[in-house]
Amino acid sequence: MRLHVADHPLITHKLTVLRDERTPSPVFRQLTEELVTLLAYEATRSVHVSPVEIRTPVTTTTGVRIGEPRPLVVPILRAGLGMLEGMVKLLPTAEVGFLGMARNEVTLEPTTYAERLPEDLSDRQCFVLDPMLATGGSLGAAIEFLFARGAQDVTAICILGAPEGVAAIEKQVGDREVHLVLGALDERLNEKGYIVPGLGDAGDRLYGTV
Ligand code: URA
Repeated sequence: MRLHVADHPLITHKLTVLRDERTPSPVFRQLTEELVTLLAYEATRSVHVSPVEIRTPVTTTTGVRIGEPRPLVVPILRAGLGMLEGMVKLLPTAEVGFLGMARNEVTLEPTTYAERLPEDLSDRQCFVLDPMLATGGSLGAAIEFLFARGAQDVTAICILGAPEGVAAIEKQVGDREVHLVLGALDERLNEKGYIVPGLGDAGDRLYGTV
């Protein structure tokens, strides 16, 4: 697994406002979008491109275009939805699939309660969006789901990560092609499974407590 933790004052500034408990939902949503766009710049460093020839007003030259097969962006419901606009702003030709993950209250294992994804992901670059990498349970299950559909190249973007979650994903994926991009690596998880210092419940802060 490759891990990239952002190290940029713009990202740290936006994260500071995001963490602040006084930041209201509309600002929280806007900042989440902006942060994802900045993280997407790093996360798409290895996005597949094809060479193209174009004419400028002056001459003919070669460039690249993000081509087929289109990258697939997969927000994990519910909080991952808050990251979608920021991602497709930078990757407008991407397709979007959806994964709903929840913890089974009996087995405590993450289960998939909703999915809308192509059956065959063998040639697709997948970008998973999940704001909080806490224990790694739901992100790990989402990554396994994509690999089970044939994916071979998965990048996960998280706003914050805990060392416990990073270690769990690292152990789970082994030497498979997984890239993890974090806005910041925080200190730890608390006894309730919240990231410390964190930002609280990302889904609630984006969408309220329904
Ligand atoms: N999910 C959240 O929304 N926040 C945390 O701190 C951990 C998991």
